[in-house]
This record gives sequence, structure tokens and C-alpha cells, in this order.
Amino acid sequence: MKKKTMIVAALVVFLSITALNCFASGGHGHNTTKKVGILLVAFGSSEASAQVSFEKIDKRVKETYPGIPVRWAYTSHIIRNKLAKQGKVLDSPEVALAKMMDEKFTHVAVQSLHTIIGAEYDDVRRTIDGFKLMGGFEMILMGYPLMATQKDMAKTVDAILKIIPRERKQNEAVVLMGHGTHHPANAFYAALMFQAQLKDPNIFIGTVEGYPELDLIQELLKKNKIKKAYLLPFMSVAGDHAKNDMAGDEEDSWKSQLTKAGIQCIPVLKGTAEFDAFLDIWVGHINGPLSHFK
Ligand code: CO
Repeated sequence: MKKKTMIVAALVVFLSITALNCFASGGHGHNTTKKVGILLVAFGSSEASAQVSFEKIDKRVKETYPGIPVRWAYTSHIIRNKLAKQGKVLDSPEVALAKMMDEKFTHVAVQSLHTIIGAEYDDVRRTIDGFKLMGGFEMILMGYPLMATQKDMAKTVDAILKIIPRERKQNEAVVLMGHGTHHPANAFYAALMFQAQLKDPNIFIGTVEGYPELDLIQELLKKNKIKKAYLLPFMSVAGDHAKNDMAGDEEDSWKSQLTKAGIQCIPVLKGTAEFDAFLDIWVGHINGPLSHFK
């Protein structure tokens, strides 16, 4: 018992001296000043037109959260490599966070600019967990992508209603092309279509790489006796999928297939991030992590 007490006493003395030393030396390299930063993480795009979207997001975020430094990262390897060959170096989330750690950021809000909580979102979350384990920041939190909660879904439906071309008539369809994924979160697309159709039965949401596929959408269009459809990408940027898979002249594009089925197609080459209605949802989500930093 006595021995144990002595050990505890010695430990207390030791820790006190260490604490005093820390205090005297200004904290042993620990961050004493709070430095908050935002890291925007997008899939990325090599299309020049996508740059418009990204610049708009950047501007909007800086206006909404003034005084907070904003950094960028692209999750897509392929896109980063492609851009690097053109001399444009874009960071991966890992590199961007390492740089922020080096710059002594203490609180980081990572905002996903993805559409659903899919594979890309999961990857970024894993990276963040790694930085948490390292003790890289005092706090690092991630904001939801476009759609995560039911509230987001409702807001997304409202945003879709706002971006429909004005000249579109009620008996004409609005067909959105989502990306689609093997990830369980693919269910968001069909769920969104269901909710959109409660407000407007001629809104359809299909995907290039998941469910619902174009075949099903085409069947539904036929059922609703649609003769004309506006095609819009349901992706943050109007990149390769929008230009080729949706609006391209190739035989297997959505435009070509629907035209062949007797539906006149009007493609609208604008990504969701080009519209304020969608931007508001993403930008608003940064408030989630930031509110925990106060
Ligand atoms: Co793709």
C-alpha cells in the first residue's frame, strides 16, 4: 500500500513538472491557437466546363463562411492523373489533409460534394478516421453529401422542380441521369424518383451505372405516353457521362435510344452544382461540422 502511494506521488510530481515545462515552453509544439479550415472534396472532372461549377462552389462557400480558408481535393484517381498530365496538380483527400495538418489547422470541416453516401463518401470517411487515429487535428468532421437525410431528399426534390426548363409543358417528361453505383446507397435514386413523382408524375430518375436503368425509364415514359423529354444530368458537373452517355450521338446514348423510341429529346448540359438550388444544400451542410467547432 505504502509503496503504491509513493509511486502515485512520484507520478504526480513528475506530471506536474512536465506540465510546468510544457507551459514554460509554450506547449511543446501543441497547437494553442484554434485554426479552422474547410476541405471541399469532389469526385473531380477533367472537363473544362466543370471548372465553372467548382469555381461557383468555391466562391459560394467563401461568401457563406467568411474568414475560413477553403481547400480542395478530388477523390478520383483517374481524373487526378489526367489533370496532372496537363500540368494541373490536384490533391487527393489524403494529401490535402496532410498539408492542412502541416499548416497547423486544428479543426477541419470536410465537405463532400458527392450526391449520395456512396463508395466515394465512404472512402473519404475512412481517410478521416485515419487522421483521427493519428491525432492529426483536434477535431475533424465530415458534412453530408447532397442527399443523406429525408430532409435532404425533400430539398433535392424542390431543387429539381426549380431547375426544370420553363418552356417544358406538363405532358413532357424531365429525365434526370444519375451516376448509379454498386454501393447499397444506390437505393437513393429510386427513392428520389418516387418522391419527385409525388409532386410531378413526369419526372424520372435513371442511372448510368446502377438502378433504375434506361430500359425501365423508357418503359415508364411509354406508359405515361411521353412524346418529348428534357434530359438533365443528376451529377454535380456536366462531364463525360452527361456529354456522351446522356446527350451524345452514339447509338447507345440516352438521347439516341429515346429518340429511336419516338421521344423527342432536349438535352440540358448543366450539372447540379451549376444551380443555386442544389448548391444551397451542399453549402448548408458545412454548417453541420462547423457548428461543433464553436
Ligand atoms: Co462514371
